Amino acid sequence: MSRHLVPYVRWSWLPVVAAMLAMCPTCTDQEARRRGEELFQQHCAICHEASNLDLKKQPPKLEGLFQSKTLPSGAPVTDDQVRKTIINGVGTMPAFDQRLSTEDVNDLLAYLHELK
Ligand code: HEC
Repeated sequence: MSRHLVPYVRWSWLPVVAAMLAMCPTCTDQEARRRGEELFQQHCAICHEASNLDLKKQPPKLEGLFQSKTLPSGAPVTDDQVRKTIINGVGTMPAFDQRLSTEDVNDLLAYLHELK
């Protein structure tokens, strides 16, 4: 009995396994963007989505960031450059090296890429 079950179980799972393999990169991308959005709301929106802040310099809007060639500072818009901005801070923007992990920053970048 169990010997007959083995091939049955294997074949019946094949399409499921194939579908999971095919979908996985998308699932993880979506998951990264979802986490990135949460992190953005938690750490960045307070400045970047607000106006009338008591800062010397108004934080730039980050929508469409990766569609433009340069950051407001004139630096090129690359993952590395934006990562550096987040980790080290810039001007009055604080450094996030103590508050965000490498994975957090990756997820934030995934979200910023989609922010149009
Ligand atoms: C305390 C307010 C504040 C917070 C919180 C903050 N920022 Fe900023 N951010 C600023 C200000 C102000 C600037 C402009 C700095 C300047 O050019 O002097 C800026 C600039 C930037 C720039 C453009 C840098 C450049 O080279 O022009 C990026 C990208 C950015 N912030 C991303 C983020 C992200 C992502 C987060 C969340 C992890 C975040 N910021 C959190 C205030 C903030």
